[in-house]
Amino acid sequence: MSRLVVVSNRVPLPDKAGNPPAGGLAVALHAALRERGGIWMGWSGKSTGEDEPGPLSIRENGAIQYALTDLTDRDVAEYYNGFANRVLWPICHSRIDLTEYARREMAGYFRVNRLFADRLVPLLRPDDVIWVHDYHLIPLAEELRRRGVRNRIGFFLHIPWPPADIFFSVPVYEAILRGLCAYDVVGFQTDYDVENFAGCLRREGVGEPLGGGRFRAFGRSFVAGDFPIGMETAEFAAIAAKSPDDRRIREMARSLGGRDLLIGVDRLDYSKGIPQRIEAYERFLRSAPEYMGKVIYLQVTPASRSEVPEYASMQETVASEAGRLNGALGTVDWVPMRYINRSIRRPVLAGLYRLAKVGLVTPLRDGMNLVAKEFVAAQDPEDPGVLVLSRFAGAARELDSALLINPHDAEGTAKAIQRALSMPLDERRERWDHMMKRLLSHDVVQWCADFMAHLEPPTHRFLPEP
Ligand code: UDP
Ligand code: G6P
Repeated sequence: MSRLVVVSNRVPLPDKAGNPPAGGLAVALHAALRERGGIWMGWSGKSTGEDEPGPLSIRENGAIQYALTDLTDRDVAEYYNGFANRVLWPICHSRIDLTEYARREMAGYFRVNRLFADRLVPLLRPDDVIWVHDYHLIPLAEELRRRGVRNRIGFFLHIPWPPADIFFSVPVYEAILRGLCAYDVVGFQTDYDVENFAGCLRREGVGEPLGGGRFRAFGRSFVAGDFPIGMETAEFAAIAAKSPDDRRIREMARSLGGRDLLIGVDRLDYSKGIPQRIEAYERFLRSAPEYMGKVIYLQVTPASRSEVPEYASMQETVASEAGRLNGALGTVDWVPMRYINRSIRRPVLAGLYRLAKVGLVTPLRDGMNLVAKEFVAAQDPEDPGVLVLSRFAGAARELDSALLINPHDAEGTAKAIQRALSMPLDERRERWDHMMKRLLSHDVVQWCADFMAHLEPPTHRFLPEP
């Protein structure tokens, strides 16, 4: 079996004892890397004021090598905070209004991709299989090919792919599209993303589907398909089942004083629809005042990408909306919403999900949204909570037994919250069973195996029938 080389902007490093970090993707890729031996390359998270970053740092952990590169302050500003997070992220989430395009930042994005390629090439062996992750590194395969790399190279996009008209508003869209087509396998979260990608090729007249998931574009052929990412379902469910023994969860349960808990867990990101969710919750309370004092909404929201202005202003908006809601509807012995602006570890989250009667996952757009899956996996099979889920999250393609809502429709979301809180046990169980079966049969290990099966030859099964 050939070695696996994973490349991503962020590298989830193991702890001091060598245990892999929490999180489905990290767990699954570490398992694959351990089995086959391999390298995980990415940004160290550190930056320097010098003109050039120092040499690559290599850390060994059993069969896995971590190859970490620092970046310069300028790289971080132009590549990460700039083109990746002020152009590609908003564009892929259909927010042209939030894009801030600067030629200098675009040049920085391609420069850092060249740096990654220069640093990766000396580590590669001819039969390594390379798997690149996410929007920070789209041009990497093309840069590797330019340096003579002939290995199989796959790419997985964790975020949505937008419709052609939106994508074409990026001034350098053609270079990005060509970059994607330099891979052997391009994986998206959903069939809608694949459709949008195929639409971009068609509209631009640069590519065509060959059938069976194969495409020809820019003079080469490759596979593109949907590979919805899974989670470590059984393990997470087992952690959640043990959570009532956890002191922190018992204290949280006590603090609820018999009230029903609604929970939202999101990085502080404008794509997550948090202000719209607060508005819908307020509408629900105002339209069903019998619930005042009987429910508590906990919103867990770690800060994210705070150097990007749109994120800094979202942080202010959410804090002020939470304060406004509590001021308007709270009483001396009840606040409608608890707002936590920091990260909570996954084992504790598992317990909080299980304690909650309702999971509120209402992004305006999301590649997948693992929180939706985690909420379902954490439930008590005898008395499961209800997931209220935006139809614009990739997860809605699989979790269609959730209460699907349109996050732009505050009244509709408010009604769904009320329906979730009053749903009979039989219906809750039926919906949960359906979703849990899907999460167990399509977990993250299966996802990883499925992608690898497409990336490794032979791929002749994708050729059109003669
Ligand atoms: N998460 C966490 N602690 C927190 C908030 C989130 O560990 O305080 C985890 C969460 O359990 C999930 C991930 O972060 O696994 C978020 O993934 P998701 O796909 O929902 O959204 P993303 O942040 O990737 O856009
Ligand atoms: C999303 C992206 C990831 C990214 C993560 C956290 O899940 O798809 O690529 O790592 O958000 O964002 P950050 O900017 O902190 O890496």
